[in-house]
Amino acid sequence: MCGIVGYVGPKRVTDVLLAGLARLEYRGYDSAGIAVVHEGSIETVRRVGKLSHLIGAVAEDPVEGSIGIGHTRWATHGRPSEENAHPHADCTGRIAVVHNGIIENYTELREELQAAGHTFRSETDTETVSHLVESLYAGDLAEAVRLATRRLHGSYALAVVHADDTGTIIAARRDSPLIIGEGAGENIVASDIPAVLEHTREILVLEDGQVATVTADSISVVDAEGLPVTCERMHVEWDLEAAEKGGYEDFMLKEIHEQPKAVRETLRGRMGEDGTVQLSELAMTTEEVAGIRRVIVIACGTSYHAGLVAKTLVEQWARVPVEVDVSSEFRYRDPIVGGDTLVVAITQSGETADTLASVREARDRGAKVLAITNVVGSRVTREADGVIYTHAGPEIGVAATKTFTAQIAALYVLALKLAQAKGTLSPAQVQHVWSGLMALPGIIERILGDQGALQECADQYKDGCLSSLFLGRGIGVPVAMEGALKLKEISYIHAEAYPAGEMKHGPIALITPHVPVVAVATKGRTYDKVVSNLQEVRARGAETIVVATEGDTEIVKHAEHVLYVPETDEDLVPIPAAVPLQLLAYYIAKAKGCNVDQPRNLAKSVTVE
Ligand code: M6R
Repeated sequence: MCGIVGYVGPKRVTDVLLAGLARLEYRGYDSAGIAVVHEGSIETVRRVGKLSHLIGAVAEDPVEGSIGIGHTRWATHGRPSEENAHPHADCTGRIAVVHNGIIENYTELREELQAAGHTFRSETDTETVSHLVESLYAGDLAEAVRLATRRLHGSYALAVVHADDTGTIIAARRDSPLIIGEGAGENIVASDIPAVLEHTREILVLEDGQVATVTADSISVVDAEGLPVTCERMHVEWDLEAAEKGGYEDFMLKEIHEQPKAVRETLRGRMGEDGTVQLSELAMTTEEVAGIRRVIVIACGTSYHAGLVAKTLVEQWARVPVEVDVSSEFRYRDPIVGGDTLVVAITQSGETADTLASVREARDRGAKVLAITNVVGSRVTREADGVIYTHAGPEIGVAATKTFTAQIAALYVLALKLAQAKGTLSPAQVQHVWSGLMALPGIIERILGDQGALQECADQYKDGCLSSLFLGRGIGVPVAMEGALKLKEISYIHAEAYPAGEMKHGPIALITPHVPVVAVATKGRTYDKVVSNLQEVRARGAETIVVATEGDTEIVKHAEHVLYVPETDEDLVPIPAAVPLQLLAYYIAKAKGCNVDQPRNLAKSVTVE
């Protein structure tokens, strides 16, 4: 949802801005731009499309300056065009603004500013900020920005520069992420950590309503009232290499291959020597955990699918009823939440606007909220009562892969903890599950070791396939849903997931020889039923691609392509079964020539509602 960056320091400004934007491009790639302050004026370069267009323009016509700000856009207000690209100037061209978020009252502000004589050049909500700051500027840019933010409704992360001040960037935020990397004799403002890592690992996290004045040697922060405040500082452990491709063609492929590590790290240290599951992040006594009567999971997209896996696990192991809700629905539906409800908010980024709003809604209604996130210091970590981190490392590919399997690993731990506190699983049963979990990283490695069948299969569906169905039963349903989401988001092939038993109630009408059916048919309670469903679709001409258990030679009779995964307990199938479906989507998208890391219309973290 847009990436912003600002640099002040001795390095060549455009190099720092463009490199920072490259690390933020996953947040949006409809257009990109920079504004650089030089000897009393601002030079702006903006281009539609990918960052490479902007990089080409700057290479052709270099821009010099002492400080600058940059932006990579995911369009919300106004189509992707050069006029709508950031940075946005005021009437005088002496103020430049980059923004991530949505100014909800921009129409009203725009009318007010136009009536006062301001001329707008774009259709964006952001341009109102430039003119508002201009109208409030009386020689102190930080104060003008602070006063302007008091008039803004909605969300913003802002970086603002003025031609009169060749050494200062003003940064402000509310409900959109913004950090400041503190370097030696240089400082860098950014939407996310990867953009600053080349320069520093010391991070200052701005809070809602705060305004920072950033020079090369200092960072001073005031709150919404203008009073000085001290901000929390963090040291980032992971290095730049973790946020780079490391020899893989794409981030997505690299991240798929990082799953053994992501799962292993997420499970690490979770089983005590005495056989008790370690989950101090719950911040509850065993009696309090045993007193949980209901669990509600809130999440979006891939995280929602991980939540659906948790439903099966928690209900089966801990005998606690679980509801799983899409965050954007939960927050508006007057949910029934009480003091005995544990709300689990799953969000890779920790910044998804609807999930954050749902967390607030749940806490206001008296529930305890446990967040599962991958991003240390993200918004959700400040709003939840407890946090479980998935230790998957940074995920740059827009399509979630390693964070999905890591989320499921974290949810296994939570489900076991609940079952142990409630006494619904015996110590031997807990130990049995744990041994199975410990084997998962090795199993994923085996799946990743042989991708020949997958590539062959993908090649066959790269042309002429416009639609597909994904089927599963029980714990295989969320896996099918996630497989369908992966395929549609990176290859643009329509993919619909269904519980296999529901096929006969409508979707079977879609079956033709041109609509392949992808099914999760691993060994388990409903295996025979899924095989029957496969026979039904094949009888109607469908070709089938089936994820099956190694050693199942019968399944070849019901499938054009079999993607084998090593045998595990049925409850642990989601992690191994997800991997071939991620790879299938990946290879089909690559064969079609799609950009798998930056699919059209998407952005990595959805910080607008
Ligand atoms: O950061 P979050 O987990 O809250 O993000 C939720 C969804 O936006 C995300 O999973 C999205 O669906 C991905 N593109 C899936 O690949």
